[in-house]
Amino acid sequence: MTMKIRKAVFPVGGLGTRFLPATKAMPKEMLPVVDKPLIQYAVEEALEAGIEEIVFITGKGKSAIEDHFDAAHELVNILEGRGADWLLKGVKDVIPAHVRIIYTRQGDPVGLGHAVACAKSIIGDEPFAVLLADDIFMGEKSCLSQLIDQYDGGKENLVSLMPIPKEQSTRYGIINPRNGTENTKIAISGMVEKPTPERAPSNLAISGRYILQPEIFDYLASVDKDGKGEYQLTDAIAALVDHQDVFGVKVDGERYDCGDKFGWLRANLAFALKRDDLEGDVKQMITDLLRENS
Ligand code: UTP
Repeated sequence: MTMKIRKAVFPVGGLGTRFLPATKAMPKEMLPVVDKPLIQYAVEEALEAGIEEIVFITGKGKSAIEDHFDAAHELVNILEGRGADWLLKGVKDVIPAHVRIIYTRQGDPVGLGHAVACAKSIIGDEPFAVLLADDIFMGEKSCLSQLIDQYDGGKENLVSLMPIPKEQSTRYGIINPRNGTENTKIAISGMVEKPTPERAPSNLAISGRYILQPEIFDYLASVDKDGKGEYQLTDAIAALVDHQDVFGVKVDGERYDCGDKFGWLRANLAFALKRDDLEGDVKQMITDLLRENS
């Protein structure tokens, strides 16, 4: 039977320590890229890919995310009264009426694997997507849509991939390809979370989008904590590899790691440069800053 991907899990319970002090009282996922929070980019990507149920795994200090996706009648009325139609676009009807949002909490932020496991009873017995909001993409087709295009509708798991310089492997989950790496869709025989360059089995890193089968929950339940005391999703997928097909999909487009200060700054400039209302001024600003700091 061919299964459609209807549900998407957004783990947003992490501490965001790389972005302190900004993330002391504000969720990392609410950091804006230009004028839209990271989480809204990821949610819009899921909606565009046909997702009908959004599951947020939140935690302590993350209530701004819930507020953000509530209807904002008062604000909408004010903007309509002022005739500020251009501002309404990003505020009104962000979530279409047919889409359901479910919030559940991760009591203790003990890793991405643990966060995904919190969605078990909500997901039930169907395949689902996972989107990490701190990874955002720029390209013709969204990252999740590219994964769904490659999904055969059966019992296979997919992760999005991007090539990285091997010396950066300590920041990512790195896959071990089963055969070659030439095709867009690559069979995977293993994966390692944040290996040293010497231990990295390839230069292909997981880039924040997954399609997983519900069997992953069995493996999430049995992974051990890593050296930092966190349960890793990568370790559960690595254990699943011997029992179910796992593929990587090399996606087209540029990925920005906005959980990292440099990646976030880069995303802000890159997205601003794509906007007609900002491009000219931003180019001038960059030129001026370079001159002033040379
Ligand atoms: P990260 O490792 O990038 O997030 O996890 P982090 O732990 O919040 O950030 P740093 O490393 O301390 O700066 C990727 C995604 O997984 C979520 C995060 O919220 C982020 O969206 N996550 C991580 C959880 O939901 N729970 C966790 O326990 C850990």
